[in-house]
Amino acid sequence: MTNVTRRQFGKAAAAAAALAGLPLPEFLFAQQTPDSRQFPKGFIWGCATAAYQIEGGVREGGRGPSIWDIFSHTPGKTYHGDTGDVADDSYHLYKEDVQLLKNLGVGAYRMSISWPRIFPKGKGQPNQAGLDYYKRVLDELLANNITPYITLFHWDLPAALPGGWQSRATALAFGDYAAYVSRQLSDRVHRFMTTNEFVCFTDLGYKDGYFAPGLKLPPAQANQVRHHGILAHGLAVQAIRANAPAAQVGLAENAQVFVPVIEDRANIEAARRATREENAPFLTTLLEGAYPASYLEREGANAPRVEPGDMKAIGSPLDFVGLNVYTPRYVRADGSARGYAIEPFPASYPHMASPWLYLGPECSYWAVRNVSELWSPRGIYITENGCSSADVPTPDGRIEDTDRIMYLRNHLTNLQRAAAEGFPVKGYFLWSLLDNFEWTDGYSKRFGIHYVDYKTLKRTPKRSAEWYRAAMARNAVV
Ligand code: FCB
Repeated sequence: MTNVTRRQFGKAAAAAAALAGLPLPEFLFAQQTPDSRQFPKGFIWGCATAAYQIEGGVREGGRGPSIWDIFSHTPGKTYHGDTGDVADDSYHLYKEDVQLLKNLGVGAYRMSISWPRIFPKGKGQPNQAGLDYYKRVLDELLANNITPYITLFHWDLPAALPGGWQSRATALAFGDYAAYVSRQLSDRVHRFMTTNEFVCFTDLGYKDGYFAPGLKLPPAQANQVRHHGILAHGLAVQAIRANAPAAQVGLAENAQVFVPVIEDRANIEAARRATREENAPFLTTLLEGAYPASYLEREGANAPRVEPGDMKAIGSPLDFVGLNVYTPRYVRADGSARGYAIEPFPASYPHMASPWLYLGPECSYWAVRNVSELWSPRGIYITENGCSSADVPTPDGRIEDTDRIMYLRNHLTNLQRAAAEGFPVKGYFLWSLLDNFEWTDGYSKRFGIHYVDYKTLKRTPKRSAEWYRAAMARNAVV
């Protein structure tokens, strides 16, 4: 901290210094943040990753194969045939990754546990070596004052489970896995998320064939897969409550976010209706404890078969709802019976490096507001937000990802609006700590705030890491 005049000391800076315990970049002191622009006191700042995307070590420590190992090794399924075999090798380099987190000054880290490391066959005999690996990672985080937030399922389903999510038995096995993990780790972990993004591991995997296991099932079977997904979540909530009673439980869900084309009463109402209808099989059902009548009507004979007790489990009360927020969908009131029309993106609409990732930072505000106004959850976290950009190191090795900074700055500004209006936003997890295996896009899309050289596995902070560190330290965007 050199050349900082007394006048430049702001109260935000002082608080930030206490928070991080690290020297702060000088520019932090250039201006004070008005109280109205601050995130709430105690706001949780973190980064997110997922096991299959960063760990590698797929044949180590007794891990069994997952459906993503098989899928990524199937010719033509991923970009360039990329696989998660090595990924970021976080299996071995986790201590280095915890230091990246520490240098950023985060308070929390969202990571996932690989089910086939714990139960190589999906159920039955647990694998002590797998559990021990996560204990080591968690101990490293805790020793560095970083609070772990654990996702139990981020898509790496044990390949040994017959039928995968087509089988109801898989949902039951997930409940048992959740019980085991929460019991074993409840001394170290107090925040659990059951599943990540239903639509991706159900519809994309079993209906559209785009993700593992690559099936294109007809509607009745696809709806049953969805049901098994949300049932797994519900059984896991019950299991965690029974085995780690002090823990807070939620999930990480990429509900579609509807932004009113104009912020007036009619369009805002349209956005709320669209949120409920378009997320019907997943978040709506979970938070209402029943499939919406309109969904059942729409699906008719293809509606899922539900057994006694299912809806009670599925509707288990949650401590928080985690939202993965990336991109908006614009909606307007149209006077129809359902009350809304979704607008397609015009050809000139800008997007980030991933073609699906349209810009629209106000979705970080509307995600929180729509969900709060519909279902009043106790707390909301943004469990993922971030973007891909075409990062290219300069000759001297810097990564000046100004487009990612633009993306983050605008999303966080909108999230702060939601907090300032009193919606219960508790925290934010940036996707992602480091570049990683981006599913079917392989290593072609970089979402990290640390650059990974996949030849050497060297991690380098991008300019966005420095930007995020400053925002966290001030507890404000500006
Ligand atoms: C989300 C996934 C996460 C990552 C980001 C970019 O849908 O949860 O694993 O791939 O998108």
